[in-house]
Amino acid sequence: MQKLFVTGGAGFIGSAFIRLALARWPDAEITNFDALTYAGNPDNLKGLDDARHRFVRGDIADREAVLAALEAGTDAIFNFAAESHVDRSIERADDFLRTNILGTQVLLDAARERGVRRFVQISTDEVMGSLPEDDSAFFNEESGYAPNSPYAASKAAAEHMVRAARHTFGLDTVTTRCGNNYGPRQFPEKLIPLLLSNALHDEPIPVYGDGQNVRDWIYVEDHCRAVALAYERGEAGGIYNIGARNERRNLEVVESILAALDKPRSLIRYVKDRPGHDRRYAIDPSKVERELGWQPVETWESGLAKTITWYAENTEWISRVRGGAYRDFYARQYGAEVGAK
Ligand code: NAD
Ligand code: TYD
Repeated sequence: MQKLFVTGGAGFIGSAFIRLALARWPDAEITNFDALTYAGNPDNLKGLDDARHRFVRGDIADREAVLAALEAGTDAIFNFAAESHVDRSIERADDFLRTNILGTQVLLDAARERGVRRFVQISTDEVMGSLPEDDSAFFNEESGYAPNSPYAASKAAAEHMVRAARHTFGLDTVTTRCGNNYGPRQFPEKLIPLLLSNALHDEPIPVYGDGQNVRDWIYVEDHCRAVALAYERGEAGGIYNIGARNERRNLEVVESILAALDKPRSLIRYVKDRPGHDRRYAIDPSKVERELGWQPVETWESGLAKTITWYAENTEWISRVRGGAYRDFYARQYGAEVGAK
């Protein structure tokens, strides 16, 4: 039997990881520890009526709550919990520091106290900053830290705390850094779900700046499989960059989705750019391919088709998450330029 403690398991990637983990490790018992912030959604756990999955509502920055839920003999902590949206971190960063930095430190301390065998930190390519447009430059594991947004800076700080726990206390840690995920159940403040949910409602689609920024997209299940492999086979203290060699300009992403939904280009609205916007992310995944034997299963076309089908079939999920707090954020972010919801 393996005991796994997954934080942020009611979010987009964490809930996909729990589905994958239950299928991949029939002997796994999973505690899903999540605070259910605006981004955490119990609907993301629908269909997970497996007796091997236990949900505990709690905050990773709350030491007592973490210790109460974390059982001795736990094999691994997978830390997906985070404040994850760059634009929100630009508005206000304190929750990012609390959850992403302090929360990670609380988990590292609890891991030591409970004798957890391995700590897996889910990080991001954004800790390495922005690449030039010259397409011979890539992020690899030797790229230095150059976080540009408050979100990226908080995730870089978390990586440093993980490194320090390994160096100072010998904790067995692995860190994965991945590019932009897409797939089912992603909160519609991020580019792909925002444009899917707006296009399905025939609403305008905000495109930042000139729309030429480049992101390296990966289907969420491919990312989750790489995290599983990093847990199973990653070297202690290792960092693994995870990418599907799938760079796209934002405008290309928008146009592909509009075409797939048979919606007009006239829905596009160019809006003021994000301050300090990173121009390009692109990951060299050679290490994870070579050392962990990982390859993505989905192509951009197949992953996008699955994603579009999921959003088209789950309009109720979209309607529920587009209420309350989402509407307020959307109005602040885009109201003046594209109209509020
Ligand atoms: P998400 O915003 O969809 O989900 C985050 C989850 O964490 C939510 O369920 C939320 O309730 C929970 N959470 C937030 N604060 C918490 C706290 N203090 N205590 C307990 N739970 C808390 O995010 P996501 O897109 O699923 O991202 C998951 C992880 O992957 C994050 O660490 C993020 O930095 C990283 N990541 C995401 C991407 C991406 O493209 N989405 C890319 C690279 C790395
Ligand atoms: P996002 O999904 O927020 O991820 P990240 O900032 O972590 O890369 O944004 C992806 C890209 O899309 C980024 O360059 C900003 C841009 N973008 C838009 O053009 N319009 C939008 O409505 C959103 C949410 C993002």
